[in-house]
Amino acid sequence: MPRLATRLLAWYAKNKRSMPWRDHPDPYAIWVSEIMLQQTRVETVVPYFQKWMKLFPTIPVLAQARERDVLNAWEGLGYYSRARNLHKAAKIIAEKFNGQLPRNLDDLRSLPGIGRYTVGAIASMAFKMDEPTLDGNLRRVFSRLYDVTEFADSPAGEKILWELAAQNLPTGQAGDYNQALMDLGATICLPKNPKCPNCPIRRFCLASQNETQALRPLLKPKKKTPHYLYVAAVMVRRGRVLLTQRPAEGLLAGMWEFPQARVEAHPQGELAKAINAAYSLTLQKPEALGVVQHAYTHFKATVHAFRCMALSIPKKKNLKWVKLTDLETYPMGKVSREIAKLLAESRPFSLY
Ligand code: ADE
Repeated sequence: MPRLATRLLAWYAKNKRSMPWRDHPDPYAIWVSEIMLQQTRVETVVPYFQKWMKLFPTIPVLAQARERDVLNAWEGLGYYSRARNLHKAAKIIAEKFNGQLPRNLDDLRSLPGIGRYTVGAIASMAFKMDEPTLDGNLRRVFSRLYDVTEFADSPAGEKILWELAAQNLPTGQAGDYNQALMDLGATICLPKNPKCPNCPIRRFCLASQNETQALRPLLKPKKKTPHYLYVAAVMVRRGRVLLTQRPAEGLLAGMWEFPQARVEAHPQGELAKAINAAYSLTLQKPEALGVVQHAYTHFKATVHAFRCMALSIPKKKNLKWVKLTDLETYPMGKVSREIAKLLAESRPFSLY
């Protein structure tokens, strides 16, 4: 076995972090956890994972679930296409693969939401195959171990890093090896101020020798993310609030929100016109309810929410009067859920 792998596996045996999907490995649980862990930290994932496995304990149960229940179970984790893809893939697996995750790499890869990373993770962890994988932690660890000078986020850098990920795989133990590197990246080989003196594989690390840790991984200069201003109109009438459903494709696809629109500079001044242009709704008497900030992948948003009265409400554009007591059952993104909380904490609804 490569010496690097021997050292790493010995370190992992002593230091591995306890996680529910590690204690009871089963391919479905590993798949769900790996999808949840994309873009999300372990501590955040654990309660969602446990709730998910109670609600949808097997692939056939998930395949039969309603999309709304699936999105609700995911609410708060963000990147909702992950939940939708899990659901879609479960239906395909129930139909085509007898309810079991396929062991064949091409079949796995053909499933919605399962890319090269997830194939490697499932194959190595669930099926004990000698397959590499590469996530953000592993990219950083290998960029440093081999002091990679290509941009890690370029096709050339990506190719080098996948080759490095495959280079030292210990036969029969790729799952532990991959997870050891993930734990190393999460606890020692940190993005900022890595704990090199505690690193079990420091002797193999070229960046440590060259003192280039802080420069690796090398990333392309980032464009500044734009920051947009929005208004949201919260209209309550007879115990109901007006919601709109987002289109079936794109950001927060199919989720519910308070009617909202982009404005240039003056939320209250532009509110009525912006909402009217977007929904043909006529608003009156706006009162500030609160401000919610959120960072999406490609832009930042500041949303000013207003309670208002609606004079005319067209029967179109997916507008729906939803009982305040049912609000929780409508899947929403973080911003709208935050506005719903502001509403719940504001003056009694009976005033409207
Ligand atoms: N991040 C993604 N998958 C992981 C796993 N199996 N262990 C630790 N961190 C991870």
